[in-house]
Formats: sequence, C-alpha cells, structure tokens
Amino acid sequence: MSVTPSLPRTAREVRLASVPSGLPAPENFAVVEAPLTAPGAGQVLVRNRHFLVFPGLRTLIGGEVDGVPLPALSSGDTLFGPAVGEVVAAGHGSPLRIGDTVTHLQGWRDHAVVDAAHCTPVGDTLPDPVAHLSQGSSAYGSFTRLAPVRTGDTVLVTGAAGAVGTLAGPVARLLGAGRVIGTTRSPEKAERLMAELGYDAVLLGGEGDLGDSRASFAAQLAEAAPDGIDVLLDTVGGEQLAAAVGAARHGARFALVGALDGQLSARRAGGSAPVEIDSFRIVVKGLSLRGYSGTDHPDVEEEWNGRFGAWLRSGEISFPHVRIPGIDRAPQALQELFEGRHFGAVVVEL
Ligand SMILES: NC(=O)c1ccc[n+]([C@@H]2O[C@H](COP(=O)([O-])OP(=O)(O)OC[C@H]3O[C@@H](n4cnc5c(N)ncnc54)[C@H](OP(=O)(O)O)[C@@H]3O)[C@@H](O)[C@H]2O)c1
Repeated sequence: MSVTPSLPRTAREVRLASVPSGLPAPENFAVVEAPLTAPGAGQVLVRNRHFLVFPGLRTLIGGEVDGVPLPALSSGDTLFGPAVGEVVAAGHGSPLRIGDTVTHLQGWRDHAVVDAAHCTPVGDTLPDPVAHLSQGSSAYGSFTRLAPVRTGDTVLVTGAAGAVGTLAGPVARLLGAGRVIGTTRSPEKAERLMAELGYDAVLLGGEGDLGDSRASFAAQLAEAAPDGIDVLLDTVGGEQLAAAVGAARHGARFALVGALDGQLSARRAGGSAPVEIDSFRIVVKGLSLRGYSGTDHPDVEEEWNGRFGAWLRSGEISFPHVRIPGIDRAPQALQELFEGRHFGAVVVEL
C-alpha cells in the first residue's frame, strides 16, 4: 500500500441521530468523529472535496423505500450520496493512483474508504470537478431516451429551480425546443430562471396566495402554452402533473423524474405521491408517460458528461449551484433545501 504518514486517523461524518415523524430537521443529525481504517486491498482513501445535498435522502430516512435503488437509513447510520474527491492513499491492487479525482457515493463525510470498483475517475471531462455533482444527466437522459425533444417543441419543466430543473431548461433549448416553460414556488426564482437560464415563462406552483391553486396553475399553463405542450419533464407531480395532462398536445411525451410534492411532504413518508389525473385525456391524446431512473440508463452518464463538458467550455450552459462551506453546516443545508431556499444544486464544500 502506498500511504503517507500524514493521513488522518479519523473522519468527520454526518449521521442520522433520530428518525423524525415528518421532515428531518438539523436536530435529527449529528456530526461525529469516527475512526478511519487504512484502505485494504482494492480500496482507496478519498479526501472528499464536495458532496451533494439532495432530496432523495428524505425518502431513505422516511423508510418508504419500496422500489428505490438505495438502502433505507436508520438511526445511527452515516448518510451517503454523490461526492467528488481526491485519492490520498491506495491499497494493494487498486487501479487508482494518489492524486486521482474520483466520484463515488460515500458523501456526507470528509474522508471515505471506498472500493476502487465503486469509484469513477473523472479526468478533465468537465472544467470543474464539482460539476460532476450536477443532476443534469437525468434531464438529458429524459430528453434523449424517454421524451425526445424535437425542433420547435414546447417543453414544460416542473421544479425548474432545483438541481434537475436548472439544467433541464437549458438542455431542452440546446436540443431544439422552441419554447421552454418552468415552474417554481418562488417569484424571485421565477425571475432568475428567465433572466439567467433562458426560460421563456415561469409559472408559480404550490399553495400560497393563489386560492384554488389547481385552477390557478392550470390557468397559468393555458396562458403560457396556448397551443399546449409537447414534452414534460416532471420533478414535482401533484397538481402540476395533473395540469400538464390537461395541457398536453396530441402525442405529447412525459418523462417523470421525481415527485417532490410527495417526497417533501411533511404528511407523507417521502416515498409516495398520489395524484388524480384524467386518464381519459391520456387515451384520447395518445400521451406517453414514462418514469426515469438513472440506474435504468447506465449509458447516459458518459454521454451527458461529454456534451455537458463541451457546452460548459463553449459557454452555452452553466452549472447553477450553491456551495455551503463546512461539514458542520450540512444538516442545515438539507433543511434549507427542503425549504426551497436555494437555486440549483446544493453542494457542501469541504
Ligand atoms: N430519476 C432520477 O434518476 C432522478 C435523479 C435526480 C433527481 N431525481 C428526483 O427529482 C426530483 C428533483 O430533484 P432535484 O435534485 O432537482 O431537487 P432539488 O434541487 O432539491 O429541488 C429543490 C427545489 O424543489 C422545489 N420544491 C421543494 N418542495 C417542493 C414541493 N413540495 N413542491 C414543488 N416544488 C418543491 C423547491 O423549489 P421552489 O422554491 O422553486 O419551489 C426546491 O428549491 C426529486 O424528487 C429527486 O429525487 C430523480
């Protein structure tokens, strides 16, 4: 094993301290110091530089994980999720070298011992390694595999200010969309989506001062897309999905990527999002509704990274994200994500 004497003997990590009945709050987490073992054969020690704060954790903590390709989190467990870092020690037989930058799933800690087979070296495909935490591949995969965007299409992206949505709009445009419409619950984010990311119109979803929000949302959609929508990328579900079915043109393609309406509901456990939609509209309009799961499309990530890197370098796209400094602030960052306080992906910087 190649190892230097200055390597840490402990790692700081975020654990689930208790399972809440509603949405997790910072008091349900603890940042602890845990012993760090040296990497064994085929393993590497990674110094994490950034990890992603993401809504799927709510589902894993809620325990309602049927069909989710990740294990549930119980009290005492260390959180996990996408991270990018640098190899600082490598065990015998590891194909990785000290200094390699890799992505892996042992986020929420400052150092991680990871099987080299579970690390992906990132090279210099993207100008900044943090961009490997982007969630744009699910938008790109949806628009190229499930719900193809054709030249001139009208595309609706729900949850447009989130990690997926801030890339989905620009990606739809680059793939030929003629009109791109987003949704958010925040008027300030609506302004930013139009000014910074080229959304043509942004609708305000969720409950607020709108009274009967379903009628209001459907009315906003009818005004923004008087001829209907050709493609939906949905990360919200609920009334927004129902309204999109009503506004769909004949032969429209819907990719369902997430269901924040149920996932981040304090009344549910995070793994269900029931919604009443008019199935007769689906029949008569010949709609296709397909769920997108990254694990079903293993070929997408590499293709996305190639195109994302080229678009970033040419300035045709950006990676909207917020960097939160320090692992101690990570539990608060998750709460802020639940509250919709940020724009784009939320990343903890170590
Ligand atoms: N299928 C896949 O492979 C895949 C991959 C990545 C993500 N996902 C899923 O896609 C969804 C979006 O992920 P993301 O990473 O983009 O999320 P995100 O960045 O956490 O999105 C957060 C934004 O969603 C909005 N939001 C929060 N609660 C909401 C609610 N109840 N109703 C409507 N909007 C709400 C808020 O924005 P506003 O303030 O603007 O409302 C918030 O800023 C999640 O369900 C996630 O699990 C799936």
